[in-house]
Amino acid sequence: MQSNIRKKLLEAFAQAGDEFISGQKIAELTGASRTAVWKHIEDLRNEGYVLEAVRKKGYRIVSIPDKMSADSIRLQLKSKILGQQIHFYDCVDTTQRIANELANTTGVEGTIVVADEQTAGKGRLARQWHAAKGKGIWMSILLKPNIPIHQAPKLTLLTAVAVVQGIKEVTGITPQIKWPNDILLNGKKITGILTEMQAEADGIHSVVIGVGINVNQQIEDFSPELRDIATSLLIENGQMLSREELICSVLYHFEELYATFQRDGFASIKALWESYAINMGKTITATTAQGRITGIALGITEDGVLLLKDADEKVHSIYSADIEI
Ligand code: BTN
Repeated sequence: MQSNIRKKLLEAFAQAGDEFISGQKIAELTGASRTAVWKHIEDLRNEGYVLEAVRKKGYRIVSIPDKMSADSIRLQLKSKILGQQIHFYDCVDTTQRIANELANTTGVEGTIVVADEQTAGKGRLARQWHAAKGKGIWMSILLKPNIPIHQAPKLTLLTAVAVVQGIKEVTGITPQIKWPNDILLNGKKITGILTEMQAEADGIHSVVIGVGINVNQQIEDFSPELRDIATSLLIENGQMLSREELICSVLYHFEELYATFQRDGFASIKALWESYAINMGKTITATTAQGRITGIALGITEDGVLLLKDADEKVHSIYSADIEI
């Protein structure tokens, strides 16, 4: 964890954007002496930040180091609660483990855990999640929501909407959601979401939402088995993206949707989810533990259950399945 002065200094630079910010103003915002501010600025320079200093105007950040860090994320943060605590790791087994541990110790609502590389990334249904170094967003979001346990699946749906909106904002491309919570571009997966909950009899203790976004991988970064089913934003869009910008955009949209959910309920988020979904109104086949069901996808319930109408007009509720589109 970084010092409080440094955190506030980076927040001040984030707010100032391209503008200069005076030493006096920084001292006010950080509550530190001008000497302490100067020392922190020197630390940033030593770490590769390029800062311009102009007499009577103050300082501004010209460029930041190439390497992702808690600081480089904080500099682009637009959300107020999400990302207030950032735990960044160069390499970790899985950010889900760290976030679940933080849930029982110092982690507060909105804490994020981000890794540049994961060695044992977790996917849904006990699958592995391939998380190459420096190429994607491997992030877990810790929430302590004040909602009944049965409403927790709504948070996964909400996350999928936030990721679609974040990608749309940063790239101009609108990906699609494949039930239950994969995000696809041109029919291949670019994002997976894994939600884990710690609950007690009287309610939810914490929810950890893991988001894996394939951002800057080249085709060779995917194993031959994955190449037909997975892709990255770089492969589909031809542009390297700033992972920090995308993280901050997703967090911003998440925060807006989360506030809407808590204030007005889930209806508008469900409608957004359905509007982004690839398979609604179409004939699909669901392979469940009980067998295969082919039918028209009617929509989802508020709990994220897929409703499928078969040829005999019978409506099936699908709780868990692999979907062929
Ligand atoms: C899936 O589609 O199966 C879900 C994949 C979720 C991957 C993310 S990456 C960040 C977080 N840490 C993990 O180990 N898994 C999730």
